[in-house]
Amino acid sequence: MKTVLSGIQPSGNFHIGNLYGAINQWVRMQNEYDIIAMVADLHAITIPQDPKKLQEKIKEVVALNLAAGIDPNKSHIFIQSENPDHTYLAWILNTITSFGQLERMTQFKEKSQKHEENVGLFDYPVLMAADILLYQTDEVPVGEDQKQHLELARDLAEKFNSRFGEVFKIPAAYIVNETARIMSLQNPEMKMSKSDSNPLGAINLLDSEEEIRGKIKKAVTDSSSSISRNAGSAAISNLLTIYASFNNQTLDQVYSELEGKSYGEFKNLLADVVVKKLLEIQKRYQEIREDEQALRKILDQGRDYAISKSSQTLLEVKEKVGLV
Ligand code: TYM
Repeated sequence: MKTVLSGIQPSGNFHIGNLYGAINQWVRMQNEYDIIAMVADLHAITIPQDPKKLQEKIKEVVALNLAAGIDPNKSHIFIQSENPDHTYLAWILNTITSFGQLERMTQFKEKSQKHEENVGLFDYPVLMAADILLYQTDEVPVGEDQKQHLELARDLAEKFNSRFGEVFKIPAAYIVNETARIMSLQNPEMKMSKSDSNPLGAINLLDSEEEIRGKIKKAVTDSSSSISRNAGSAAISNLLTIYASFNNQTLDQVYSELEGKSYGEFKNLLADVVVKKLLEIQKRYQEIREDEQALRKILDQGRDYAISKSSQTLLEVKEKVGLV
């Protein structure tokens, strides 16, 4: 069975870009692949987090993944910091990573402008490479914004294999084009983001019905007033992409259904479908979140499984490097 690894940070709010860019792919793949889903808490602390809230955020993200359809009987979910192999391998990979490779990372450039610089933020992609390579991963389902990080993981795997001998499988990115980049509702040039300073830009999985309807109503459109296949602006096509994702349709099907409808009518339809789906997820979320013991058991099993795989890879790495 092929292995899939992917991660999500427990920082900010889990939004519909995360759901359609990544989590839904993991859910769809779980019958055919060995899915290892990771809550990337060590990545999250590269930007300042409130220590009092971090534990809550971690549990929230785990429960939201389960509520969105990650089935613990089929997949494994664990917390990154509970498996020390990640930081160990990251250190070894640091020794074969050049400054230039990390300086080119666009996410580092963006984040270091917004936050106080730190070495962790610079080194973040190396930790991410370790996450992926430890599990001999075949495919990594991510949104478009992680593509460059994935290329680094591939480069480092090749470099290590050629310098020390074959250890790592070369992972492939799994990116679903249509939902790879859900944009902000307020600015179609910017991706929907957990760290957006404008709270109207992202629809979060735990938003109330009122908040969801309000955000869709205020979403920017353009100067026309109805949907037309040939004249769609970036803002409208983003809303149509969201509609298509929530309805499991292609954009083509959506245009056939909605061509000629006014933006106002379309926004009402969009709000209905988003509210319905997110309220279902929220109901499951409440049930899962209330049973702390069951949640802990799922995470213990996930961690044990993760370590059983990663420890084998790490031992081979140590042997090749001469550390054992
Ligand atoms: P994070 O937590 O920012 O996002 C989780 C996943 O959601 C995708 N995503 C989006 N997809 C479409 N449209 C958007 N607007 C959008 N925003 C986010 C991201 O691409 C990601 O797939 N570095 C990673 C976490 C990570 C990881 C890993 C991922 C750590 N180690 C190993 C894969 C493999 C991150 O910050 O994701």
